[in-house]
Amino acid sequence: MTSSTTTATTTLFVLLLCAPALSRADYPNQVRTPSPLWRRASSSSPPRSVPPAGFYNPNDSGGKMLTVAPNTGGLGEPLNIIVSGNSDETVLVDSEDNGGFRNYMISVGFAAECLGQHEGDAQTANLGDGNGQLNETSELRWDYGDPQLGTCQETIDGGNHFRYWIQDGPSANSGAFFLATSYELPIQTGHDILFDGYNLGRDWLVGNATAQSSIIPTANLTNGTTFSGQTSFGGYTYSTDALYLSGILSNSTDGLNHASSVGGNGVEALDGLVAVLTVKVVSSPSATASGARPSISTVPWWSLSATLFLTSLALSSSLLLSPSA
Ligand SMILES: *[C@@H]1O[C@H](CO)[C@@H](O)[C@H](O)[C@H]1NC(C)=O
Ligand SMILES: *[C@@H]1O[C@H](CO)[C@@H](O)[C@H](O)[C@H]1NC(C)=O
Ligand SMILES: *[C@@H]1O[C@H](CO)[C@@H](O)[C@H](O)[C@H]1NC(C)=O
Ligand SMILES: *[C@@H]1O[C@H](CO)[C@@H](O)[C@H](O)[C@H]1NC(C)=O
Ligand SMILES: *[C@@H]1O[C@H](CO)[C@@H](O)[C@H](O)[C@H]1NC(C)=O
Ligand SMILES: *[C@@H]1O[C@H](CO)[C@@H](O)[C@H](O)[C@H]1NC(C)=O
Repeated sequence: MTSSTTTATTTLFVLLLCAPALSRADYPNQVRTPSPLWRRASSSSPPRSVPPAGFYNPNDSGGKMLTVAPNTGGLGEPLNIIVSGNSDETVLVDSEDNGGFRNYMISVGFAAECLGQHEGDAQTANLGDGNGQLNETSELRWDYGDPQLGTCQETIDGGNHFRYWIQDGPSANSGAFFLATSYELPIQTGHDILFDGYNLGRDWLVGNATAQSSIIPTANLTNGTTFSGQTSFGGYTYSTDALYLSGILSNSTDGLNHASSVGGNGVEALDGLVAVLTVKVVSSPSATASGARPSISTVPWWSLSATLFLTSLALSSSLLLSPSA
């Protein structure tokens, strides 16, 4: 063999070894849906600006702290939990990767809907951020301890769940997540909401997010009540500080969907409290562990093109030269 065929064959061998690794690494990135925040990064939205409270009150600029449920004549559900814009940037990304919001929620006990299905039409909300009335970003359900399939049990047996929206529009970009949380009854009852189910859904989520050993006493909450605690999933540990605030959501049953099941007998369906969660990442997977994950996005496009070009070059030169060897 001449030295040039040896070089060409060696190059080909090395390139063929690399090629399958590159295409395998490509796969997980292709199946993931890009988060709205990634899309936003490339759009012309103004940068995030977070007021001291951690969010803008939608009611101050044409929005509402109630969602609109389809086919109800405008009735809706309370946005009774806010993940504050003062939370770590990591948590304010709508992603299961890199410790994002969905990973945080798995640590609390909520996961994506059963087998990727979604029942019913989207609810909408206007967070007063200039984006107007928008469909929910997504819906997460109590996963009964199983992030893969547990939400299927929630769909049938009922349980805690929430829809959420992100306040990231051009006129009020706090990055805060607004959650409409409620505890729904089993599917046979048409998924009506449990009596007091808006307040209870909120408090059972907060109780899990702050790792309480007993259920938060809903009737004893007042403006300024706090809870704190830690949860973990996927190598990330989060600390959550919950602060209950009144005066943002009204203390009434007016405009509520499922009003007949959640309140009555002189009891208002809402106590008017919103739980504001400030979430920080206290530990994350070590740099080596996360750096070891292969990703096509770290391989520049020209490298892949060059690989293909050199592979064909090596192939043709070895074919040309081998007869003379
Ligand atoms: C909002 O959701 C409904 C289904 O519930 C869908 O038909 C509609 O296209 C969605 N709108 C947008 C802007 O995605
Ligand atoms: C956690 O959530 C589950 C399901 O909603 C609930 O049964 C449980 O009481 C909650 N735990 C706390 C401490 O709130
Ligand atoms: C709630 O308040 C009542 C009286 O206001 C008190 O008796 C009860 O112990 C409180 N419960 C909790 C769990 O703090
Ligand atoms: C609730 O408490 C906060 C301080 O934590 C205060 O700024 C706010 O004015 C209070 N709201 C009402 C309605 O009293
Ligand atoms: C929302 O704003 C309107 C005025 O625009 C006011 O009448 C109403 O009380 C506010 N609601 C709450 C819950 O603050
Ligand atoms: C809500 O209103 C009811 C009666 O209208 C009252 O008993 C209750 O204390 C109020 N709750 C809050 C948090 O303001």
